[in-house]
Amino acid sequence: AQEIEAASLTNAAELEQFRIAYMGRKGRIADLFDNLKEVAPEQRREVGQQLNQLKNKAQERFDQAQEQLTQNAGASASENTFDFSLPPVPNTLGTRHPLSLVRSEIVRIFERIGFNVSEGPEMEDDWHNFSALNFPENHPAREMQDTFFLSEDRDKLLRTHTSTVQVRLMENQKPPLRSIMPGRVYRNEAISARAHMVFHQVEGLYIDKNVSFADLKQTIYYFAKEMFGQDTKIRFRPSFFPFTEPSAEIDISCLICKGSGCNICKQSGWVEIGGSGMVDPAVLESSGIDPEEYTGFAFGMGIERITMLRYQIKDLRLFTENDVRFLRQFEGVL
Ligand code: PHE
Repeated sequence: AQEIEAASLTNAAELEQFRIAYMGRKGRIADLFDNLKEVAPEQRREVGQQLNQLKNKAQERFDQAQEQLTQNAGASASENTFDFSLPPVPNTLGTRHPLSLVRSEIVRIFERIGFNVSEGPEMEDDWHNFSALNFPENHPAREMQDTFFLSEDRDKLLRTHTSTVQVRLMENQKPPLRSIMPGRVYRNEAISARAHMVFHQVEGLYIDKNVSFADLKQTIYYFAKEMFGQDTKIRFRPSFFPFTEPSAEIDISCLICKGSGCNICKQSGWVEIGGSGMVDPAVLESSGIDPEEYTGFAFGMGIERITMLRYQIKDLRLFTENDVRFLRQFEGVL
């Protein structure tokens, strides 16, 4: 009995040895049973009972040890069955919005030629959206901006262009200034394939000594070629903005129809991407910069329009509909 108690049963081989030694047909307990006939008849019953106890004890130890072993085996088996070479369960991530993609690409392009990024509030006042930018009181140019006013006296409004940040920058920093200002703007316009009441612009401002229109042109040439490819053609058309003089509209060759005419460029082969010009001396002055000492250029472009040209998107409403079939197409674009 002591031997049975003390036997080491920590693995399958020991267990098998134990079974053969004690429980097998030629094992020790079977031997003892064989010897039972040599026991005196009056003691045989008692000895028989003891042998049966011994047999049960061996069986019990065996059963316990076996159960313990299979449990251990189960645990270590499940540890080992994790296959690290299996492909992962697909984890669908969201995608970056095309407007964000293009915004950061614009920032990267201008950063390479020394522009930093400035931002300002979307809720503005008359001064930053109009007056400081040389829009005279009651001038029709104010009406053309289709402004959403937020107060009765028309002093609080949603900015209609990112030129507001131009004013804030000139008020807060001394030249030289070289910054781009991407942001959301608002205009009370009917929503269509080409226009929305909420859209994005990126304004650029460069103020230093001896900045000329040639610098403006070269900056825009550089940007358009980096953004749309080296074959892109650029055209400046004379225009008017209250805050620049001279002013020019910027057109690029239409990439969607590649010159053959389409609804984006209205058959002309050219498409407008923004406005530009030399900062009006009156604007410099109202922001505390001496126009005798400094000159500068500014430009403003629509990010939706640039994104549509870049990715050949024909309807601006796709940007705000959140249709995943549209958005998924930008998966993996950096
Ligand atoms: N702010 C003008 C607009 O929204 C664009 C512009 C910016 C024009 C800077 C000239 C210079 O239409």
